[in-house]
Amino acid sequence: MTFDQTAESHRRQRMRIIAVANQKGGVGKTTVTMQLGAALSRLHRVLVVDVDRQQSTVWWAENVRDRLPFDFAGNQSPKALAGLRELRIDYDYVLVDTPGNLEDTPALETVLDAADYVLVPFTPEPLAVDPTLRTIHRLIEPRHLRYAVVLNRIDPRIPDQADTWRVLFDTEFGHPRFEHYLRQYKALADAPILGHLVTNLRDNRRTRGVIADATQVAAELVEQLTPAHSGRW
Ligand SMILES: Nc1ncnc2c1ncn2[C@@H]1O[C@H](COP(=O)(O)OP(=O)(O)OP(=O)(O)O)[C@@H](O)[C@H]1O
Ligand SMILES: [Mg+2]
Repeated sequence: MTFDQTAESHRRQRMRIIAVANQKGGVGKTTVTMQLGAALSRLHRVLVVDVDRQQSTVWWAENVRDRLPFDFAGNQSPKALAGLRELRIDYDYVLVDTPGNLEDTPALETVLDAADYVLVPFTPEPLAVDPTLRTIHRLIEPRHLRYAVVLNRIDPRIPDQADTWRVLFDTEFGHPRFEHYLRQYKALADAPILGHLVTNLRDNRRTRGVIADATQVAAELVEQLTPAHSGRW
């Protein structure tokens, strides 16, 4: 192998494909994809891919217009991901928003087959538990993929809500989770229509927590994917 080929292969190996997945609808897959994509883009080369027929990120991206801080590939066939590593493109992280309904399971499976890591957003509600655990047990674990649950929509007015669910994931369910989480904010709920991302939100009292949460979760994700941390890359 020539020096150029070695460097090329090393560079490509560094690209991480991160599927954002949970077969429970409405847990924040699209929100996590877009906001973490933005937070990561401050320091890394990021591509956001949408394979969801709902095309929520496409609509969101259109509302962001020219302030989109990452490359964006909407309306993709899940199979396109498999070929991504062969293309001479240069990204540190590829985040893939996936569908949250059972009819689209084959599309999700194709994405998981191409992924290096799975982020599993979870909202703190009892009805989200079964579909989330089913996604992990039936689709993620059989592929021996690394993954972690990220709590989303934690209500700052409910004391101990985050701790209660952290303990449940650690003991009762026994699944890896992020230490940091996203709280519930009106600014996040309004973000798709206003085209807001943590990179174009004006930093003020209303938005400071949104920016801090996404930045912390993104930093934790990078740490998870650092060779020294996992010992597996
Ligand atoms: N942390 C948050 N604070 C406030 N609103 C949020 C938060 N996370 C998500 N939402 C809102 O909750 C709704 C569902 O979120 P989102 O669309 O990201 O979920 P999803 O998992 O992608 O849904 P689907 O399964 O339908 O694709 C959206 O209206 C979104 O704006
Ligand atoms: Mg979605």
